[in-house]
Amino acid sequence: MSKVLVSDPIDQAGIDILSQVATVDVKTNLKPEELVQIIGDYDALMIRSGTRVTKEIIEAGTQLKIIGRAGVGVDNVDVPAATRKGIVVVNSPEGNTIAAAEHALAMMLSLSRYIPDANASVKRGEWDRKSFIGAEVYKKTLGVIGLGKIGSHVATVAKAMGMKLLAYDPFISTERAEQIGCQLVELDLLVQQADYITLHMPKTPETTHLIDAKMLAKMKPTARIVNCARGGIIDEEALAVALKEGQIAGAALDVFESEPLGESSLRALGKEIILTPHLGASTTEAQVNVAIDVAEQIRDVLLGLPARSAVNIPGLGPDILEELKPYMQLAETLGKLVGQLAGGRVELLNVRLQGELATNKSQPLVIASLKGLLYQALRERVNYVNATLEAKERGIRVIETRDAAIKDYAGSLHLEATGSLGTHSVTGALLGDGEIRLTNIDGFPVNVPPSQHMLFTLHRDMPGIIGKLGSLLGSFNVNIASMQVGRKIVRGDAVMVLSLDDPLPEGILSEIKKVAGIRDAYTVTL
Ligand code: NAD
Ligand code: MLT
Repeated sequence: MSKVLVSDPIDQAGIDILSQVATVDVKTNLKPEELVQIIGDYDALMIRSGTRVTKEIIEAGTQLKIIGRAGVGVDNVDVPAATRKGIVVVNSPEGNTIAAAEHALAMMLSLSRYIPDANASVKRGEWDRKSFIGAEVYKKTLGVIGLGKIGSHVATVAKAMGMKLLAYDPFISTERAEQIGCQLVELDLLVQQADYITLHMPKTPETTHLIDAKMLAKMKPTARIVNCARGGIIDEEALAVALKEGQIAGAALDVFESEPLGESSLRALGKEIILTPHLGASTTEAQVNVAIDVAEQIRDVLLGLPARSAVNIPGLGPDILEELKPYMQLAETLGKLVGQLAGGRVELLNVRLQGELATNKSQPLVIASLKGLLYQALRERVNYVNATLEAKERGIRVIETRDAAIKDYAGSLHLEATGSLGTHSVTGALLGDGEIRLTNIDGFPVNVPPSQHMLFTLHRDMPGIIGKLGSLLGSFNVNIASMQVGRKIVRGDAVMVLSLDDPLPEGILSEIKKVAGIRDAYTVTL
């Protein structure tokens, strides 16, 4: 039975799902060195934001197949190191969207009305109504930086409260922003005009300290800023100075450069700042959502099924997977085949989506083709996660093309590879029952199912050649399961595709090439 380690607290609903397929150990608060010591025993690791999954931990996880992050941000996982080792990293992209958006809105309103400090003063026995004169958000301008899932929800609710919306997001179209009711503007304009600013982007090299002293200096003295995204997007030292000197009116932070927040000049400030301990996703609903979402994906991967939200398998969303799964199997088979026909050291792979398939997303099929292509070299070490990276590191150039006009089958896939044995191509299609058919080899039409051991010849179409090859194989005790010839013109060039019951013995290929009329021969093992 598989073993799963859960190293941060997650909802019981997730543990119950994992327990269907694995032995689950919950061990929280492990020191990094303790995790390195035990991770080698586990097939899967499930975390929240508390565990840092470093390269060292990934290297020690010799059995690891999947790392599941019960939340959105995977900045606590060394994803490139996991990708290199073929470990799937999954998250829950939507499970806590509403929780995080509502926390940002709560922070904005609390900051405007000094709720935390007013509450604390009443609890101290005071009745001070003068110190807590707030500001209304109605008709004020909210600047949303990062208009993704959380940013969009914040914007939608803020609009309903009568706020005017500006947004900055370099990866969102003007149309999309307008749909949400936001005017897309440049960052400088947003920070100059906004009364409230809320951050909802990931922490990347571009966003680290995006809000620094210079940016803070551009804001209105009445501006209030909220960060429920990631610590370090705001320069905390610069923010403390800006608040102290009254350059801006307030800030509410849920996330910090270093968590838990230790010594910090922010802590000495008064009612102009609100600090919460990374509570954005801390609702009962969100914790159940993310635990179920990620546990289901871990269960699926341990059962050999694909994960719906893998962050290191681009383009494999759940809807796409469902539709393209049979074609991915076809792509992988064709990749294995063309890789062996083209010999080792493939330099170029052309993937062409034909007929109805041409309207589909090509990326999953390219990944599956590369997985097949690299199988000969990497065996089980290549998977959907690392196939693209492995191909890139081997200098394999990939070209994707589409041709909807090719309609010999409803949808077909054509792979052409150039390697040490020259350029070869294979085309395949799926029959109604999902069975794979090879429909073309090196430009010659055929109609054969792939089989484990295959022999391909390029020969002249002339009497007696099939008999000679049959006798030769018979003399080596090789049984032919099926055979088909593909040719374009009678007595011209032709290919022969043979399915064999056994692998071809050593040395026989050179004998086959000596048969008069046979120009070339290749064996393939699928
Ligand atoms: P998302 O991927 O849906 O949206 C992120 C948006 O940021 C995207 O639209 C992207 O185009 C934009 N973006 C990227 N680089 C940018 C840049 N340089 N400037 C401006 N915008 C940029 O993600 P989401 O689910 O909305 O999450 C947003 C953030 O909230 C993430 O950092 C996530 O980790 C964090 N988060 C925090 C909590 C919490 O507990 N506080 C909970 C959930 C998510
Ligand atoms: C997230 O990225 O999902 C948040 O940081 C929430 C969390 O896991 O605490």
